[in-house]
Amino acid sequence: MTTTQAHARTTAPTALAVHDVTLAYDSATVFEGLSVSVAEGEVTTLVGANGSGKSTLLRAFGRLLTPRAGSVSLRGRPLRELRTREVARQLAILPQKPVTPAATTVRDLVSRGRHPHQSLLRPWSAADAEAVDAALAATRLTDIADRDAAALSGGQLQRAWIALVLAQQAPVVLLDEPTTFLDLAHQVDLLRLVRAVNAERGTTVVMVLHDLTLAARYSDRLVVLGEGRVVADGRPWDVLTPETLRSAFGLDALVVPDPASGTPLVVPLDAEHPAPSR
Ligand SMILES: Nc1ncnc2c1ncn2[C@@H]1O[C@H](COP(=O)(O)OP(=O)(O)OP(=O)(O)O)[C@@H](O)[C@H]1O
Ligand SMILES: [Mg+2]
Repeated sequence: MTTTQAHARTTAPTALAVHDVTLAYDSATVFEGLSVSVAEGEVTTLVGANGSGKSTLLRAFGRLLTPRAGSVSLRGRPLRELRTREVARQLAILPQKPVTPAATTVRDLVSRGRHPHQSLLRPWSAADAEAVDAALAATRLTDIADRDAAALSGGQLQRAWIALVLAQQAPVVLLDEPTTFLDLAHQVDLLRLVRAVNAERGTTVVMVLHDLTLAARYSDRLVVLGEGRVVADGRPWDVLTPETLRSAFGLDALVVPDPASGTPLVVPLDAEHPAPSR
């Protein structure tokens, strides 16, 4: 991280942060003494090799995993002190492997995103219906809204889960590999939607992506995780260097400007496909 980026980030309030956390499972400690903060209104993408801890960090941000040590804060308040309902209003999370309830239509599934807004005193309202309809339309699911969720293709189901998260209308959204199962056109569609929600509502987004070129094109900031630490952190061009790619992924790659966006395009190299001599 350069000084300029540190400065750029300190100008916006912090939406989410882990402070000196230890994140572990019974069998393994993934991070010790990790600190990462996310500025409000930014699209931040976590990248890194399989098993580098992206989902683990996202779960800690979303209170699905309690740190063994250290703390997590959501919009300046300690996450552990917030009530579940309060967390659900502020933060929506798409896990890497969501479990779809049986016998649910697409519309019912998406409607679950409105639960945090309801109570005995505030039953289902026109605003809820509007949020669900808008989320279905944004993910292009309106035509199949009455289908059984179990009968959807992998990509359609993934979009239904994204619609659920959108319907929640939380100011902070966490997406673990939202483009899994999506064809390239739908991946681009989804990432454009993420940028649109960010631009229109100021939603803070933290997501996990594997496609580094798409991550670079659609993110304000990339955080590269590896070996229990942050390997690199900053604007896409500062982060996606051949050195970082080698150290985080063990990948030889050429990084050139994406002709469509000017952001870094990662070209993997191997023995049969070396860098072209100039
Ligand atoms: N529920 C669990 N119990 C025990 N260990 C786990 C659990 N979930 C993850 N781990 C371990 O923690 C480490 C980090 O896993 P994590 O799922 O955060 O990686 P990731 O970066 O999201 O990987 P991927 O790209 O494959 O999704 C791995 O070594 C993994 O085996
Ligand atoms: Mg993961």
